[in-house]
Amino acid sequence: MGFAGHRDTWAEQVLPWRDAILARRLRMRIGVDADPDARRALRGLLGGMAAHMTLRMVAIDDCVRAGVAAGARQVVILGAGLDTRAWRLHELADASVLELDLPETQRVKRLRLGGAPVRAAQLRFVPADLHRADLGWVLGDAGHDPDVPTVWLWEAVAMYVPLASVRATLEVLGARSAAGSRLAMTFAVPDLLGAGTVGRTLNPGARAVFDLLGEPMRTVLSEQEAVDLLGEAGFGDVEITDSATWAASAATRMPRDPLGAERLAVARREALGTP
Ligand SMILES: C[S@@+](CC[C@H](N)C(=O)[O-])C[C@H]1O[C@@H](n2cnc3c(N)ncnc32)[C@H](O)[C@@H]1O
Repeated sequence: MGFAGHRDTWAEQVLPWRDAILARRLRMRIGVDADPDARRALRGLLGGMAAHMTLRMVAIDDCVRAGVAAGARQVVILGAGLDTRAWRLHELADASVLELDLPETQRVKRLRLGGAPVRAAQLRFVPADLHRADLGWVLGDAGHDPDVPTVWLWEAVAMYVPLASVRATLEVLGARSAAGSRLAMTFAVPDLLGAGTVGRTLNPGARAVFDLLGEPMRTVLSEQEAVDLLGEAGFGDVEITDSATWAASAATRMPRDPLGAERLAVARREALGTP
């Protein structure tokens, strides 16, 4: 399927005004509505990042669908940002969605979306500073039921959080996961930009890029370290994929993750105490 086939039709609606106008201009001039040569130019300009994020979205959508088909009735999105799954996925018709993020991020999103109809049975915005709040308490207070299978989404967040917080967060999610729950989490591996790292230290060039973008990278994990962390939290049956895998599943020739650094771990909680 081509790029247009995986388009998030809610993306422009949810972006802050200034970004939405820019996105619309790009789309009209060189985006998916323009001719193929211009589209190729746009992809080159973005260095494959847009394609990578689109493929990641599709891969995680599939995980949500699979979780709900297997009986999950709650979807919790940590650091949801401008996630549009509650509006896009009709498979959520019997599921409640909890979106956790900073109050300001949610304020802008709600302003932009207004009363746009959601496809989920229920959507709850849960404002929380996850660096400070007690996640277990926040989830309980927001109505999350630990006895009902949950799909947890932690997309493009764990790499920006210190390792101790990644571990603590996974522990809470594991403890609140009924059998049949699953978790989709993306993380960064140490070979970012192919320049190597010293232990867990990101190479200085890559660190500077993320610092400049205002999203300092704090945690990189090898695939085995991710499996181990998930295992400690009670999640097993871990499957790790990357943008090449996602592109193959989507039968697309989209370019690979330009940084070659992000992985998606999908893990399950089969029974409490026995991952
Ligand atoms: C890189 S974005 C990822 C957003 C979304 N998951 C996605 O994949 O498009 C990181 C998100 O984490 C949120 N975030 C950052 N610090 C946070 C905090 N202390 N508590 C809650 N959310 C936070 C940001 O507001 C942002 O929405």
